[in-house]
Amino acid sequence: MEHLKLKPFPKDFLWGASTSAYQVEGAYDEDGKGLSTQETAPIPEGTTDFKVASDHYHHYKEDVALMAEMGFKEYRFSIAWPRIIPDGDGKVNPKGIEFYNNLIDELLKYNITPVVTLYHFDLPLALQEKYGGWASRQCIADYERYTRVCFENFGDRVKHWLTINEQNMMVIFFPYPSEKDKYQANHHMLLAQARAMIACHELVKDGKIAPAPNITCIYPATSSPEDTLAAMDYDQLRNRMYLDTAVFGKYPEAFMEYLTQRGWAPTFEEGDAETLANGKPDFIAFNYYGGGTVKYISEEEAKVAIEKAKGSQAEFMIGLMTEPGIAQNVQNPNQKQTSLGMGIDPVGLRVTLRQLWERYHLPLLITENGCGVPDKLEEGDKIHDDYRIDYLRQHIKACQEAITDGVDLMGYSPWSAIDLISTHQGCTKRYGFIYVNRDEFDLKDLRRIRKDSFFWYKKVIASNGADLED
Ligand code: BG6
Repeated sequence: MEHLKLKPFPKDFLWGASTSAYQVEGAYDEDGKGLSTQETAPIPEGTTDFKVASDHYHHYKEDVALMAEMGFKEYRFSIAWPRIIPDGDGKVNPKGIEFYNNLIDELLKYNITPVVTLYHFDLPLALQEKYGGWASRQCIADYERYTRVCFENFGDRVKHWLTINEQNMMVIFFPYPSEKDKYQANHHMLLAQARAMIACHELVKDGKIAPAPNITCIYPATSSPEDTLAAMDYDQLRNRMYLDTAVFGKYPEAFMEYLTQRGWAPTFEEGDAETLANGKPDFIAFNYYGGGTVKYISEEEAKVAIEKAKGSQAEFMIGLMTEPGIAQNVQNPNQKQTSLGMGIDPVGLRVTLRQLWERYHLPLLITENGCGVPDKLEEGDKIHDDYRIDYLRQHIKACQEAITDGVDLMGYSPWSAIDLISTHQGCTKRYGFIYVNRDEFDLKDLRRIRKDSFFWYKKVIASNGADLED
């Protein structure tokens, strides 16, 4: 619906931006830090590793000062589990605690609210080697212990916590020996998350905690009833399995039946159902990069499509997005794309916000959304990233429309505060408001440069979202 008048952003709206530890910090083996699964995974050819990243570990004061200059009200960053407990389950590393204490204090000096992700893909490598990481139930207890160390050390100053970044992407992307193993690992993460939520409420006075999956509305490819059902089913698999379990403490029924009939349902041990029911989030954080579109595909058709795609370029996408008997992802002709092929769908953000609010009735925080493309450094240290400004402007407008629709939106924290290393496309895929002067293999001087979007976002924040013009 079109509104005649848009409501203003709430006075205490959390304007800011996000990063994650392994993508921005560097210092990958300094001051006692253990290795993570991310720093040791194969690196795609032609792209950098994560050893130095944006060297935020050594530049954090300068970086926080730049965030303060933009007027940030919040900054979402992650704590690297292997910096705090290098081998995942052993001794706490005092230097790791010191680094995050310093970072948090620096943020508070400028009245920037820290929003902390406890785990952003970077599992301690030692736990992967010791017992296969999330494949083992032991990981639940080790994650809980780590989160308790964080709550005890930082909970006096950090009141906003996020449990696990994009658990759904980890389940969809990471290879597992079988479907049963995949859903068992997922179950372990859900239990770990519930225990972290319980621990946060026990240890952090006025603490608020949320899951942080990657959520997107799902469009049916056509108006056929089969495609509409496929969109509903895929929504359960992609979104609701993570949020229903977090908020209502229960898996969505239709999806659980699908798993059970195929022998893939996770094994519940005594107490699991109670743990899921007792862990309660205070808000929902989610990352949004564009709507998804699906058509129905039967089990038979899916088998043929998967077989046909083997060895071809399409194999990756088919493997990733096709769930036999549920849905197949299709390209949406109504959606624009960035130069690197990521969807641009601000209306989908409004749809997603509405769906989440109407289903869960918990305050929402957008913890990622952004335009990752190469930038050009021009004479006189200028970066004219009008494409990024345009992208962000449209999504911020969608937020305001959703607020006018009645959605309780706490804040907007796009990806990313500063340039960092993409998960799999190196550092030339840039998202930041702050440019970091380095190339894939030449670290140059790592100096920080304000992009055009830096000055634009500063104006947006100063006007509390009222001024979105150039
Ligand atoms: C999200 C992740 O999936 O998307 C981030 O939480 C990631 O870690 C971001 O960087 C953008 O994706 P990519 O692949 O472009 O880095």
